[in-house]
Amino acid sequence: MGRRTAVVTGLVAVAVLAGGSAVPASAGRTVRDPQQQTLRGLAERHHLAVGTAIDVAALDDPAYRQVAATQFSSVTAENVMKWETLEPVRGRYDWAAAEEFMAFAEANDQLVRGHVLVWNNQLPSWLTEGVADGSIDTAELREILHRHITTVVQHFRGRIWQWDVVNEAVTDSWDSTGGAIGYKGFWYQHLGAGYVADAFRWARAADPKALLFYNDYNIDAFGDRGPLDKTAFVHRMVKDLRARHVPIDGVGSQAHLSTRYGNYSAFQIKEMLDGFAQLGVATALTEVDVRNQLPDNPTGDTLNPLLQAQAYNYSALMQGCLASRHCLSYTVWGFDDAHSWTNTWDFGSGVGKEAMAAVLDEDYQPKPAFRALQADLAWSGPPMVLPRVPQRPIR
Ligand code: XIL
Repeated sequence: MGRRTAVVTGLVAVAVLAGGSAVPASAGRTVRDPQQQTLRGLAERHHLAVGTAIDVAALDDPAYRQVAATQFSSVTAENVMKWETLEPVRGRYDWAAAEEFMAFAEANDQLVRGHVLVWNNQLPSWLTEGVADGSIDTAELREILHRHITTVVQHFRGRIWQWDVVNEAVTDSWDSTGGAIGYKGFWYQHLGAGYVADAFRWARAADPKALLFYNDYNIDAFGDRGPLDKTAFVHRMVKDLRARHVPIDGVGSQAHLSTRYGNYSAFQIKEMLDGFAQLGVATALTEVDVRNQLPDNPTGDTLNPLLQAQAYNYSALMQGCLASRHCLSYTVWGFDDAHSWTNTWDFGSGVGKEAMAAVLDEDYQPKPAFRALQADLAWSGPPMVLPRVPQRPIR
């Protein structure tokens, strides 16, 4: 992290510089107005990586590239490291898009979060269809998973900071499974819960240095710790994995939030992050965005309260992360409203469109959430906020 420098060349910064001015500091030094500084630069003092998901197709747009390169010290491939993209035809890996992404990260001195090795979604059809029609049996499926993890992790060996090894393995309280939280999905149904430990062991064998993460949504805060508390379930799962010496180094809370729900305070976020840290693992906020339920004919009067609520949520997550020393990175799932996945994803329950989830608007201009993140990073420090504690991969 120390090798990173603050570069104020992004479009956002340029736009702001026009009206900005230096503010005098009491120490006699002149410090720059935080609004003129990048998230990446502001976070350096905390040894915190600030990341974004990258839409590789959007890298053709110079303005998108510029913001992605300057504001962030970490990047995650939004889609191009998923199994359906890497191995569309059985046995034939296509690394082209993933390598375009890696080249961008390496050119901009950015840490990479590898996403994702084992997930129920975006699997290649040869795999899901082969299992469905019985031509791939359980023993072969397990071997296919072993081979995939080994191939992908070895391919990128030494270039990935954090790997999302297993993603979204656990049910929600509103899933129609009835009763308590438990395991879910394609891999659980066919291989049983043991695939989780296997996946971490196989990933470790393929790269001894990457930090290996479990990643999930709706684990932003503890609930009542009862049978419907997903965060508590994941906490027990990680505790059990550590007790069995499974090489899990971190837990990622995706943090896809919406202002239509009552959300969490910075204290609740910190409590969740500290809870995992007490198990000996690092933490990260891996896919932060905050959706707004859009009114039919939006006006300033109807949008402004939503933008303020959105800023509050982004900020609570940032403050919670800053306050928990094992929270290593804060990654947004896209940085501008034009490219956010929330524009096309259906978040259900018939409430109309939920979008405008990013920190910059569709012209890459700062929204209140972006200003809140700058302020949180700028105006925090000892004694309550201390630099991150680096995590060493466990064997
Ligand atoms: C999303 C991408 O943003 C979309 O472009 C894609 O169509 C679907 O997947 N949890 C995850 C991410 O772990 O991989 C998902 O990304 C968002 C939810």
